[in-house]
Amino acid sequence: MLARVLVEAGYPVSIAASGDPVDIALIVDLLAPGASPRWAEDAIAEADIVILALPLSRFTDLGPEAFVGKIVVDTMNYWPPTDGIQPIFDHPELGSSEIVARHLPGARVVKTLNHIGYHDLADARRPPGDPDRLALMVAADDPAAAKAVAEVVEDIGYDAVVLPTLAAGRILQPGGPYFGAELRRDQIERELLP
Ligand SMILES: NC(=O)c1ccc[n+]([C@@H]2O[C@H](COP(=O)([O-])OP(=O)(O)OC[C@H]3O[C@@H](n4cnc5c(N)ncnc54)[C@H](OP(=O)(O)O)[C@@H]3O)[C@@H](O)[C@H]2O)c1
Repeated sequence: MLARVLVEAGYPVSIAASGDPVDIALIVDLLAPGASPRWAEDAIAEADIVILALPLSRFTDLGPEAFVGKIVVDTMNYWPPTDGIQPIFDHPELGSSEIVARHLPGARVVKTLNHIGYHDLADARRPPGDPDRLALMVAADDPAAAKAVAEVVEDIGYDAVVLPTLAAGRILQPGGPYFGAELRRDQIERELLP
């Protein structure tokens, strides 16, 4: 769904699963027409922004080298009921994106899009200025990476509220106050700003 929304916003999109792109060609054509099925390593190498949307239980299959210098959007959630207990993510203090960032040294990790369901992501899109336009939060330690991803969020139909650090994005996790929250920018800013 995310690929489809991005294609519809005018972005060139490559999409990869764990194996041969031929195996996903049909489903990509059906669900995200216009996106290109690719091998993961090719998709990563060619991308300005890499979006990780795989179960966290599979995340450590990914080698970190390919992500060095890349803007990496972490949409993943640690969800033990479906993912099982993942010892590296079962951390009492760190958020899951901070752990992702530690596993991908040199990557410019940005947390966003994890806190909205993918069907809602398509349905709730609105143009700028629409009174019903919702906001999504974007958390990163790298301000330029956050800005680049915030632009994408705005382009796909949401206002973007940038949080100052990746750690601040813990509020977007399952169990956090903004996971699944449907709020406009002014509502979020009123709640978050002192
Ligand atoms: N579903 C939602 O509405 C939603 C919303 C926000 C966030 N999220 C988060 O997004 C993540 C994915 O959720 P999902 O529902 O999309 O899961 P999913 O339907 O199980 O899809 C997982 C995808 O990840 C691919 N994958 C697994 N290992 C891979 C690897 N090593 N390299 C490349 N691709 C790999 C799988 O490909 P293969 O079939 O080849 O293994 C599959 O296409 C989760 O962390 C979830 O919490 C989901």
